[in-house]
Amino acid sequence: MTIAVVGLAAVAAVFTVFSKPSPVRALDNGVGKLPFMGWNTWNAYHCEISESIVLDNAKLIKSLGLLDAGYNYVNIDDCYSEKERSASGDIVASKDRFPSGMKNLTDQLHAMGFKAGIYSDSGWFTCQLYPGSYQNEDRDIQLFQDWGFDLLKYDNCAVPFDEVIKEGMVGKYARMAGAIDKLSKRTGKPPMLFSLCQWGREQPWLWARRFGQSWRTTDDTGPDWGAIRSIINQNSFYSWAADFYGYNDMDLLEVGNDGMTFEESKSHFTAWALMKSPLVISTDLTKATNETLTILKNTELIAIHQDPIVGTAVTPFRWGINPDWTNNFTHPAQYWSGETQDGVVFMLINVLDQPADMFFSLTESPWIRAGRQYSVRDLWSHTNNGTAVRNMTIHNVPPHGVAALLLKDAGDEPAGIQPPCARPEWCMDQNGTRIDQ
Ligand SMILES: *[C@@H]1O[C@H](CO)[C@@H](O)[C@H](O)[C@H]1NC(C)=O
Ligand SMILES: *[C@@H]1O[C@H](CO)[C@@H](O)[C@H](O)[C@H]1NC(C)=O
Ligand SMILES: *[C@@H]1O[C@H](CO)[C@@H](O)[C@H](O)[C@H]1NC(C)=O
Ligand SMILES: *[C@@H]1O[C@H](CO)[C@@H](O)[C@H](O)[C@H]1NC(C)=O
Ligand SMILES: *[C@@H]1O[C@H](CO)[C@@H](O)[C@H](O)[C@H]1NC(C)=O
Ligand SMILES: *[C@@H]1O[C@H](CO)[C@@H](O)[C@H](O)[C@H]1NC(C)=O
Repeated sequence: MTIAVVGLAAVAAVFTVFSKPSPVRALDNGVGKLPFMGWNTWNAYHCEISESIVLDNAKLIKSLGLLDAGYNYVNIDDCYSEKERSASGDIVASKDRFPSGMKNLTDQLHAMGFKAGIYSDSGWFTCQLYPGSYQNEDRDIQLFQDWGFDLLKYDNCAVPFDEVIKEGMVGKYARMAGAIDKLSKRTGKPPMLFSLCQWGREQPWLWARRFGQSWRTTDDTGPDWGAIRSIINQNSFYSWAADFYGYNDMDLLEVGNDGMTFEESKSHFTAWALMKSPLVISTDLTKATNETLTILKNTELIAIHQDPIVGTAVTPFRWGINPDWTNNFTHPAQYWSGETQDGVVFMLINVLDQPADMFFSLTESPWIRAGRQYSVRDLWSHTNNGTAVRNMTIHNVPPHGVAALLLKDAGDEPAGIQPPCARPEWCMDQNGTRIDQ
């Protein structure tokens, strides 16, 4: 009886903490102000993982300069455990794949300067049918903390029957958020970073910020331009939702995996970085080429991704070849801009299969001031490219390629530029003469 009452009180506490409508403010529990960066086992290895694979890649993240560039989480995805819990009910690390045990592994990762991430599922099983954490949330998060992990990726497979769970997706994810919160309060340790992997069902950009620091918005990506452009298209409709402590997760990076051209991989990385998705390398770094490292180490894009002053993402200001707001998975929005602490960043994506010139008027972006000129920094050639007045044309953007530009205010535009308003609609002289008619 007493136990039941305590249980009810705990449920009520979770409900009041996490179910209060708070659509604007993200959960600020001290971790995850900026989108996280790191490496994850899944895209390169799927279930074929081991402690040596994790450690070999960790050593390379460090020796290749990727840790210095900001990739500081090393995360294990699905398939790290035995299929059965122990007699006492705990998840057991796979004796074949992780023979030295998880604590040994996270100790080594921490000694190298990394944080460590683990994976579980909000249902009965993980997607590969290892134990899930449903009804074991408190026990499992305690174990993950005891193992030394700092981050939990939480998947969406094996959903319990309605008559069991009596919750929707919001309630299902609230359970682990409550367990993380309780563990942190009990132990005084920082809460584990909570990376929700709910694939964009039931619009997690509306509610997941109450629970964690990032939420997947789509199905899994793939190492091909078709997957990348489709994810860019979907996220174009909710890239407004990113800000400090709460980010759309566009899924693990495919940079380095076979299937994309250099230009496509640059577009992929640019979109993920400027849309403030977590940047999580998921390739076999023993095979990383110079092109792969050139992309992953674009420090100018990473600096915007990790901007400590501005947490918002780029959003489209014009779709381009399709009318604005067109939902088209092969031809997503092409003209994007966003605020940064250093200026206005533009991302232009050529969705065509041939090179294209891309033109825009500066004040199409809401962040540009009328009557000013802007210095142009190219974030891929890493060069200063003169001054833009009123508009810009980027010539010969490669097929599926990208231009990433940082425009900084460079003072008043030259006198006498015509027409008197760059945006002519309802442009009027002080004497009452309308100019746009
Ligand atoms: C971790 O495991 C390795 C390999 O089994 C072993 O050499 C090392 O001593 C272990 N470290 C700790 C801290 O237990
Ligand atoms: C890759 O870059 C390194 C260091 O800049 C250079 O020494 C090496 O020749 C490059 N390899 C290729 C295949 O371009
Ligand atoms: C997507 O847009 C392109 C370019 O306008 C068009 O050719 C194509 O038919 C569209 N696809 C769909 C499914 O509407
Ligand atoms: C900026 O200048 C560099 C060096 O000339 C060039 O490679 C690059 O394409 C230019 N960028 C744009 C957007 O024109
Ligand atoms: C682009 O801006 C220039 C001023 O820098 C102006 O003369 C020109 O008409 C503009 N082009 C278009 C197409 O608006
Ligand atoms: C009113 O403004 C228009 C447009 O700037 C100008 O051409 C016109 O001369 C002005 N008229 C007077 C009476 O100042």
